Amino acid sequence: MFTKETYINRRSELKKSLKSGILLFLGNEESPMNYADNTFHFRQDSTFLYFFGMDFAGLAGVIDLDEDKEILFGNDLTVEDIVWMGTQPTLMQRCERYGISQTRPYSQLAGYLISAINKGRVVHYLPPYRPENKIKLMDMLGVSPAIVQSKSSTELVRAVVDLRNHKSTEEISEIERAVNISVDMHVMAMKMAKPHIKESELAAAVTQVALAAGGQLSFPVIMTINGQTLHNHYHGNTLKSGDMVLCDCGAETGMHYAGDLSSTFPVDPHFTSRQKEIYQIVLSAHEAAKTRLAPGVPFREVHFAACRTLINGLKEISLMKGDTEEALAMGAHAMFFPCGTGHMMGLDVHDMEDLGEVYVGYNGQPKSTQFGLKSLRLARPMEEGFVATIEPGLYFIPELIASWKKDNINSSFINFSKVEAYSTFSGIRNEEDVVITHDGYRVLGKKKPMTIEEVEDLRR
Ligand code: GLY
Ligand code: MN
Repeated sequence: MFTKETYINRRSELKKSLKSGILLFLGNEESPMNYADNTFHFRQDSTFLYFFGMDFAGLAGVIDLDEDKEILFGNDLTVEDIVWMGTQPTLMQRCERYGISQTRPYSQLAGYLISAINKGRVVHYLPPYRPENKIKLMDMLGVSPAIVQSKSSTELVRAVVDLRNHKSTEEISEIERAVNISVDMHVMAMKMAKPHIKESELAAAVTQVALAAGGQLSFPVIMTINGQTLHNHYHGNTLKSGDMVLCDCGAETGMHYAGDLSSTFPVDPHFTSRQKEIYQIVLSAHEAAKTRLAPGVPFREVHFAACRTLINGLKEISLMKGDTEEALAMGAHAMFFPCGTGHMMGLDVHDMEDLGEVYVGYNGQPKSTQFGLKSLRLARPMEEGFVATIEPGLYFIPELIASWKKDNINSSFINFSKVEAYSTFSGIRNEEDVVITHDGYRVLGKKKPMTIEEVEDLRR
């Protein structure tokens, strides 16, 4: 945990943004896998962690702006709980660590909220994403699950996003710890890959690195010879000579800050010349994106810098044609790059996606509806302290290629006859994590092998 002052300051900064009402923060509950006592790994809600720090189930935090109170609702363990769970600090002892002066039993939360509503006060809550919390909001506030998202507080969302988007020095150090562990995960996978071992063996090895470092995975491991599928969680294939492995994985520290890296490497000691050609285009796009990183520059421009480089590279090998700017405007490159160049990262790997990408990545402005561009999670002008990923890629998705070819989509920019030869090429993505500094950016964490030479050096 950070010092108690960190949590006190975060809450007091939040209080400056909203004038009145009750701010309600529901923690997460245990989530059963197949029966009540056999649960998924517990993950606390990130905003609850950010303001209240406590990392266990059965809690709700209230900041009462009208009565200037901060109250933690929860229950102390009974002796029977202790038999199963061991000795634990009392709720009050835990609250003291986070500078919270009042606790009340969880059963009093509904009464507290209803009495405030009856006095005409507003209860601000964040969009819930877990069924348990939707049910609680229905029980306590009478808002049905069908409309509970739409009744959440945009004012509170905006205030939370503004705080959490700006990472403090201590948060950046913690994220950097996550990235360093994530680099170790990637180096492990690159060193282990060889013909005849399974994707699942590589996935297990990187998971071991994350857990051994005292944390968890920041999201389920992507470790696949079918890198053309953007989020491919299948690990059943056996690696063979000529394949490439796309590894997208990251660690989450014990304090729940995320790292998120991607690498693509050959199963053989060397890339083939065709793999090198595509890999180098992706790498050039990656570097072009980074050169645009600075405060004030919209991340949309960072994305476009990557896309332009991809288009020019694909033109050089005759997979695309025509005017680069026109192709970019039409989204023609999206057949090869149907997603975005990066996203915010922090306590969540896609930071605050639960609060809405439009607020986190677009500052409330609407997103494009164009195929490809609509999947860009971050477009707003960057500010010092923003932490984001850089992850352009090239993907050869047979069904997408066939569908665009059949419907003649962007045929003035795509040489479909040449693209066909790549229909089983798979996909390439590299990913780094960066922080925006006052005059530019810094890549977080230790160096991850990324150039062709660096990757091949590890594969020997
Ligand atoms: N690392 C997974 C993603 O960024 O979507
Ligand atoms: Mn990512």
